[in-house]
Formats: sequence, structure tokens, C-alpha cells
Amino acid sequence: MASATTLWRNARIATCTSVAAAATAGADALVTRDGRIEWLGYERSLPASLRARCEHDSDLGGRLVTPGLIDCHTHLVFAGDRAAEFAERQRGVSYEEIARRGGGILATVRATRAANTDALLAASAPRLEALAREGVTAIEIKSGYGLTLEDEARMLEVARALGRRYDIDVRTTCLAAHAVPPEFAGHADDYVRVVAEEWLPALVARGLVDGVDIYCDRGAFTAAQARVLFAAARGLGIAVRMHAGQFADVGGIEVATEFAALSCDHLEELSAADIARLASAGSVAVLLPVAYYTLGQTRAPPVAALRAAGVPMAVATDCNPGTSPCASLLLAMNMGCRLFGLTPEEALAGVTLQAARALALAPGTGTLAAGGPADFVVWNLDEPHELGYWTGLNRRHAIVRRGVMR
Ligand code: NIG
Ligand code: FE
Repeated sequence: MASATTLWRNARIATCTSVAAAATAGADALVTRDGRIEWLGYERSLPASLRARCEHDSDLGGRLVTPGLIDCHTHLVFAGDRAAEFAERQRGVSYEEIARRGGGILATVRATRAANTDALLAASAPRLEALAREGVTAIEIKSGYGLTLEDEARMLEVARALGRRYDIDVRTTCLAAHAVPPEFAGHADDYVRVVAEEWLPALVARGLVDGVDIYCDRGAFTAAQARVLFAAARGLGIAVRMHAGQFADVGGIEVATEFAALSCDHLEELSAADIARLASAGSVAVLLPVAYYTLGQTRAPPVAALRAAGVPMAVATDCNPGTSPCASLLLAMNMGCRLFGLTPEEALAGVTLQAARALALAPGTGTLAAGGPADFVVWNLDEPHELGYWTGLNRRHAIVRRGVMR
């Protein structure tokens, strides 16, 4: 969509081009044209010729401006809820125990299969809407509650349709390897082979898949099964990511990094050797503090060691009905700081710069810089660290999407 050349001035712009640049304002003005940032800096150094070309002038009242936020790990398309399991867990039954009894992910699979596509879209829309209200302009959405070819396709179609409805960049991830469906009970290897050899190529051919994920953990899939799936993904030219180390280290990271995974996610159980692997593969560590909080876990991911090794850290909601019934990326940022020890600038970079990297979004996405997309959020705040500080308070003033304020 073409937009007029606009000067946005009197702002405090956190460019987020690095973690350090997420700590403080590094510019006070920018010029947008045709959905992109043409110029960014301090207004006093804006070239007169460019200023003369600006058709609109928008005074942002000294407000904080950040890139549009990016939620790089969600399962927000699903039907039903698992509030009854929450009540059970409050009585002392563990998440893993509920899953062993056929609840957990498989409970949501039953509800999702039973919902028609319109119902699935209607159930999922409020969650995306809540994230959009917080300034989320790009999001990853996984399948994984269908577990048949057609139900996985429906989930991914709904994810794409939501992106169109709310004008949000959606990246879809095939997570058919989320649980073994009842049709394959006791035959996990066969299931993974069918997903790798039949479903994945079919879903890719339908244009529904941007990435592939597998839940590689105790009680879920093995590292050997991840290798089979990732080899197929590579053959199709599709990037991979992995749920790893949420409950136990089952050797998944070694496989994920061998396949240059864009990200490895959760990482509560993470060895020093795997931190080194993430660093040399350039994989992003996606931290999911709301899941950790919801399950009452006590071993946080080794953030200090990840930081020391130079592993980029992203933060995401993990929005899902079991471990993270949450549709607030701002809350995830706050919890990333308080529960995992992230600095506020790491949390902000984690939902902008690093989240864009985890999704391999177009260059410049997740930052504010000349040449990049003109997607930004104007906040009723002064300093970037206020974003990680407030709990349960959305101070979004306005969202600018492709250079147009909405
Ligand atoms: O990221 N652990 C695996 N997957 C999800 C939970 C999904 C669910 O419980 O429905 C997670 O925590
Ligand atoms: Fe997840």
C-alpha cells in the first residue's frame, strides 16, 4: 500500500538495531514513504531537501517509539480451553501426568478437530486481537492440534486468514510433531515418517508452511525422530526450529543445530555443550517465561551463560491452552525480566530484533532503520525500560503499519 511521505517528529525512538540500542532513544524523528523508512535520525540533521518533500508532519508529543513487536512462538490457533486441567494442576497433578492420561495436547486436538474452520477462526481471533492491541505486527503461529493432514492444513489456513484479517505478518510453522495422534498410538516412528514424507511435502505444496517445529522432550519426540523430520524439511528448503529442554534434555539441540535451526525454544534444561552449539549455529534461544510461570517450574533457562556465549535471546508468549494461556507479549517481557533475569533492553530486543531473527523476517524487520519497514509503535511512555517494568498495563498510544497510523 502506498503511503504519503511523512515526517514523524518529536519522538524518543528506540531503534533496537542492537541490544544496546533497545536501552535508550537513539533518534527523535523519522521519515516514511511507501511503507518504508526513508530516513531516521535527529531532526536537526534532517536534510532540507527531504523535509521539503514531506507531505505530512506528525508530532508524536515526545513519546517513546519502538519497532512493531514480534511474537515469535505461539500456538494461538486452537479450539476449546483446558481450564479444567488448570484446576487439576492446582490440586497437584502435573502437566506431564495429565498428558500421559490422554489429556493435555490431545485434549485440544479433540476440540480442534471437532471445530469447523469458521469456529476455529472465531475462537482464535480474540487472542490475535489482544496481541495486536499491544503493538504486535508480526507473529509466528504453529499447527499441532490437528494431527491429521487436513486438520493441520485447516489450522495453518486459519493462521494465514487471521494475518489477513488483522493486517499482521504471520509466519506459519508446521508442528505436526507435537504429539502422537490416536491413529498412530504406539507407533511414533511411523507417524514421524508419514509427517516427513507425506504431510510436509503436501502442506508445503499448498503454500501453508514457512517453518517446521518438533516437540523434542521427555514424553514427546526423540532426537532421532527430529533428525528424520528435519532432513525432510531441508529437502524441501524449509527452515527448522525446535521445542527443546522444557522438561528434560533429550539431545535435541545437537540435531537442531546440525540443521542450523533458526531457533531452539524453552531451554529450561540446557547443557553448557548445547549453549556452545547454539552460539556456533547462530540459533536464537527463544525464552518462554509464561509457560515456566504457569507450570510453576523452578529451574530457569541459563540466561547468564547464554548471554556470555553471545546467543541471541528472544522472548515470546507461547500462547497455548495448556502451558501458557496468555495473549500478552508485554507480560512475557515483564516475566522474562523478573523470572529469567533478562535486562529490560534484552526483553525489548527479544520481541523485536531477536524475534525477527528467529523468524528470518526480511532485513530491517524488528528494528527501525532507513530502508526497513515503517512498522512501529508509539507508546505513552518515556523510556524503553518502562515496557518491561509495568505488569498488566498496555500503554500503547498508536500503531503505524507500513507508514500509516491506525
Ligand atoms: O510450548 N510443550 C509443548 N508444547 C506447548 C504446550 C502445548 C499444550 O500444552 O497444548 C508448549 O509449552
Ligand atoms: Fe510452544
